[in-house]
This record gives sequence, structure tokens and C-alpha cells, in this order.
Amino acid sequence: MTQISKNISKAVALLNEEQNVAIPTETVYGLAGNIYSEKAIHGIFEMKKRPLVNPLIVHIHDIAHVADLTTTFPEKAQQLAAAFWPGSLTLVLPKSDQVPNLITAGKDTVGIRIPNHSLTIELLRQLDFPIAAPSANPFTKISPTTAQHVADYFKNELHLVLDGGACKNGIESTIVGFEDEKPVVYRLGSISMEAIEKVIGTVTLKNKKETAPQAPGMMARHYAPRTQLILVDDIHNAIAQHPDKNIGLLLHEELETIPEVKHITYLSKNTNFKEAASRLYDAMHSLDQLDLNLIIAQRFPDHDLGTSINDRLTRATQ
Ligand code: TXA
Ligand code: MG
Repeated sequence: MTQISKNISKAVALLNEEQNVAIPTETVYGLAGNIYSEKAIHGIFEMKKRPLVNPLIVHIHDIAHVADLTTTFPEKAQQLAAAFWPGSLTLVLPKSDQVPNLITAGKDTVGIRIPNHSLTIELLRQLDFPIAAPSANPFTKISPTTAQHVADYFKNELHLVLDGGACKNGIESTIVGFEDEKPVVYRLGSISMEAIEKVIGTVTLKNKKETAPQAPGMMARHYAPRTQLILVDDIHNAIAQHPDKNIGLLLHEELETIPEVKHITYLSKNTNFKEAASRLYDAMHSLDQLDLNLIIAQRFPDHDLGTSINDRLTRATQ
């Protein structure tokens, strides 16, 4: 049985023994292991059933560690770190020899972030090594935002989920790298493009499957519930087109006329992006437990976090 506990010492002991522990962050729960332990890193890939070609994000608690893990820390990357760390930004930087190739899937860059969660920061302080942590879900499944989601996924395979409550932001970190010194966003996430551009000016978005095979979060089918999901602007019209189905709705606002369907979940009642993002994956997990054969999700306005949420919902439709 997977244990759900707030006991940091237990997590420290397991990680020191090259085992895996699930950890809370402000984005989603991560499946952690010592970056220098082949056993722990293989454990992560095996438990997630994740192909070895997909690199892992390294989590640190002190910006000083960037110097050990990378060869250069460009000015714009430093500005982003100053603005958003600890927080939901992953920086992809040229890796140093200290970072095992297993972590970066043979790439010459490494993704790094300082998570904004007190329990995990304290955990990292008590360890002598950084931890690699992909989202704690089986490959292509919905990311976990509660300790229970993780325990449900891994049951007997995982000893411990460090319980830090529900994740505040609810969607993954935004990933920023540099190509010819120009900033590139590889994955939309908890920090909007607009917020990043306020700090460093124009950035290029490369989150399409064709242009960013480097990010598995960018695979066409990802974040997917088992129940079929469609993303639409006109809810009433979509319902009318599926007269024989058990329908669940995923809405971001109250509609003038409440449709007659089996189930309605509100991510927000007034299109509050932050609130909606924090509830998104839990809502998808819950809807998937109901006896539905279609989830109709309402498309968000396409700006700020609305764009990141639409990205996740679109990937869940495939
Ligand atoms: O919010 C998050 O980032 C969570 C929490 C646990 O920190 N982690 C997470 O990890 O979402 P994961 O493995 O599920 O997604 C990491 C993404 C992948 O799409 C991976 O390809 C990309 O980061 N990535 C990691 N290192 C990279 C690199 N060197 N170059 C390009 N993409 C990289
Ligand atoms: Mg993931």
C-alpha cells in the first residue's frame, strides 16, 4: 500500500536509499528520485512507463545550484529566475558534466526549477542532491494534483506520497529555453506567455507536436481521461448534437439557461483563470469516475492562463 504522509524524515530516508517518493509542488505532484542514482532514475521511468527519450526536470532549492548543473546562465534566464523562482517556471539551459545523461535523455540541455512548496523545499534542504521529478502519473494520463490521485495511480509500486495538500496552481510549469540566445517557450503552463514577455520581451512559442518533439507534455494525446472529451465554444449546440449520450459538462462560467445533462462541473463560475487551472485536473479525474460517455468542455478565452488551460483541454480531446 502506498502511504500518504506529511513526514519529511521518511521521504529523506527513502530518497537516500535510492528509492522513489512522490512529492507535492505548487503545480502538480512529482515522482522524485536522486538525480545521481541510476536505480532511482530507472525507477521513475519504469513506474511511469515513460520512454527513456523523454528528459526529466531537475528540482533544486537554491539558485546557487544552477552553476553546478549548467555551463551558462544567460542574462534573460537570470531575469526569469529572479522574477519567478521559487515557482512554476522551468528553465532549459546547457547542461554541465555533473548532470547524468539519463536525466536529459542524452540532450546537452537540462530543465531546472525551484518549486514553490514549503514541504518540498524543506525536503530538498535535507538532501545532499537535487531530485528529478516528472509529474507523478503514468505516461499520457492526467497529472495528479492531490496525494490521493498519486496513490490511486501507483498503489503497491510506490512506498510514500509526501502529502502537501491540493496543488495551488494545478497545471504544470511553463518551460522556457533558448535557441541562438532567443527565448522559446516549449510548454505552456502555470506562468502565462504574457507574464514572461513582461520580464524579457518577445518570446517564441514552440509547443506544437511537429516543432517540439523534445517535450512529451507536447504529445498529441496527453492529459487524457478515459471518457471521450470534446472542447467547444457553444455548449447548447454541442449537447443538441449528442442526444443519446450521458453527458458531463466542464464549464468556466454560469450559463443563462442551465442545460439538462447528467452532470455539471464548474471550474469557475465567473471565468477566473487561476481558480479554473487549480481545479482542472481534479475535475477531469472526478468526471472520469462517473458513468459518462462524453465530457463537453467549454473553451476558455484565448489569453493569459486561458491559453494554457485550452492547451491541456485540447490535448485531452485526442
Ligand atoms: O510542473 C512541473 O514541471 C512538474 C512538477 C513535478 O515539477 N513536472 C513535470 O515534469 O511536469 P514532466 O516530466 O511531466 O514534464 C517535463 C517536461 C517534459 O515535456 C520534458 O520533455 C521537458 O519537460 N523537458 C525536460 N528537460 C528538457 C530539456 N532539456 N529540453 C526540453 N524539454 C525538456
Ligand atoms: Mg507530465
